[in-house]
Amino acid sequence: KLKAVILIGGPHVGTRFRPLSLELPQPLFPIAGSPWLQHHIEAIVKHPDVREILLIGFYNQSQQMSRFVDDMQRKYGIPIRYLQEYAPLGTAGGIYHFRDQILRGNPRAFFVFNSDVCCDFPVWEMAQFHSNVTGGNGYVILGTEANEQQALSYGCIVEEPSTHKVLHYVEKPETFVSNIINAGGYIFSPDIFQHLTRAFTANYENELIHDAARDSIDLHSSVLTPLAGNGDGGKLYVYKMNSGFWTQVKNAGHAIYANRLYLSLFKERHPEYLATNTPGGHEIYGAVRIHPSAQIDSSAVLGPNVYVGAGVVIGAGARVREAIVLDRAVIQEHSCVLHSIVGWDCVLGAWSRIEGYPSDLNPNDPVAKITSESLFNLDGRLNPSITILGQGVSVHSELIVLNTVVLPHKELTSSYKNQIIL
Ligand code: GDD
Ligand code: GTP
Repeated sequence: KLKAVILIGGPHVGTRFRPLSLELPQPLFPIAGSPWLQHHIEAIVKHPDVREILLIGFYNQSQQMSRFVDDMQRKYGIPIRYLQEYAPLGTAGGIYHFRDQILRGNPRAFFVFNSDVCCDFPVWEMAQFHSNVTGGNGYVILGTEANEQQALSYGCIVEEPSTHKVLHYVEKPETFVSNIINAGGYIFSPDIFQHLTRAFTANYENELIHDAARDSIDLHSSVLTPLAGNGDGGKLYVYKMNSGFWTQVKNAGHAIYANRLYLSLFKERHPEYLATNTPGGHEIYGAVRIHPSAQIDSSAVLGPNVYVGAGVVIGAGARVREAIVLDRAVIQEHSCVLHSIVGWDCVLGAWSRIEGYPSDLNPNDPVAKITSESLFNLDGRLNPSITILGQGVSVHSELIVLNTVVLPHKELTSSYKNQIIL
């Protein structure tokens, strides 16, 4: 038996996801038309040994969360529960705190995934590696490759190539350590809890740590770094993803990129989700997913990499490309939406143009990652970003909104460029 934990963080981690996280916890935001975490869950349930999925975070129990959990249980027929930390417990504190729940039923191992990564999770391969390479009692980090400079923003792993053992683990090093980075996925034998207990006890014995922080445990510095090399007899391994995409999703600007990656996965896995050209219908390029309740004029042109949500109305001659259009938005005739997220219930007037800066990777670097720079650059100007319209924004006809983030419920009566509209 196996189990899986997804670390979903909480509202204060999600501030970079504003303005969209104002309406919805970030892990529920639709990417390629499915709630973000559904992509994780769908990959996890493909392994028939997985008997339960635990979502651990510090979001308040909300209707949105319980509805999501119910929907997923019904759809995938597996117990899924949300376990709420009473305070942010870090990347390992929640796992330690809920150890009884994780160990109930005696799983032989459990997966841990970060919610904020987007990839074709190699669940089978990790379980296989755990049994065959570690002898079923090791700890495995999912690794992927990055370039020298970008590797510094991630956990870096030095591997012993013949055994795949981890010799060194350094979280976000200042100088180059390795091209292999922690991809935010693990499979642990239950023995890992002895190391969590050690980290927990050390916190309590350390007088410098104040009360509130004592239950928080950082997986990287307290568990992975000490386990590398010969810790616990050398039981820490790295399984490198051999193919496929991988990205972190840290801010709303990354959502369009993640949308593109998951839509491309649907070409193989769920071609039925993708729209096709029909005689006399609207024109489709590349991967486009359209909710069946959306109404799209036959002269509109969509794609590539577009998701159109429930109840959306798209008028004559409109053009939508590299975009997420959330439920009930109205895009009037001849408007153009490029590299943007159009929030729930937005209304874009006729001949308006909503355009963001494409988040593309260096085409000459096969292992390039999207960077998660902050919204503003050093002179206080907005960094090039996709355009995001929060919920219920209305844009009058014939206006241009370029590289701009608009908070919910604003009415734009003039054009904007490189701004945040509060
Ligand atoms: N439940 C819970 N409680 N989850 C948390 C908490 C917490 O207090 N803090 C963070 N998380 C979750 C986040 O939601 C995310 O899914 C994951 O834990 C890791 O988040 P961070 O602590 O922000 O780390 P990071 O994303 O900067 O780096 C991690 O991921 C990289 C890959 O994306 C590290 O594991 C790196 O080594 C790794 O390269
Ligand atoms: P590439 O990015 O290299 O493909 O060049 P491009 O000029 O096709 O890209 P761009 O992102 O500028 O435009 C994407 C699509 O939107 C193209 O098919 C354009 O024809 C269409 N487009 C651009 N501006 C408008 C507009 O104002 N109105 C409408 N209806 N379509 C537009």
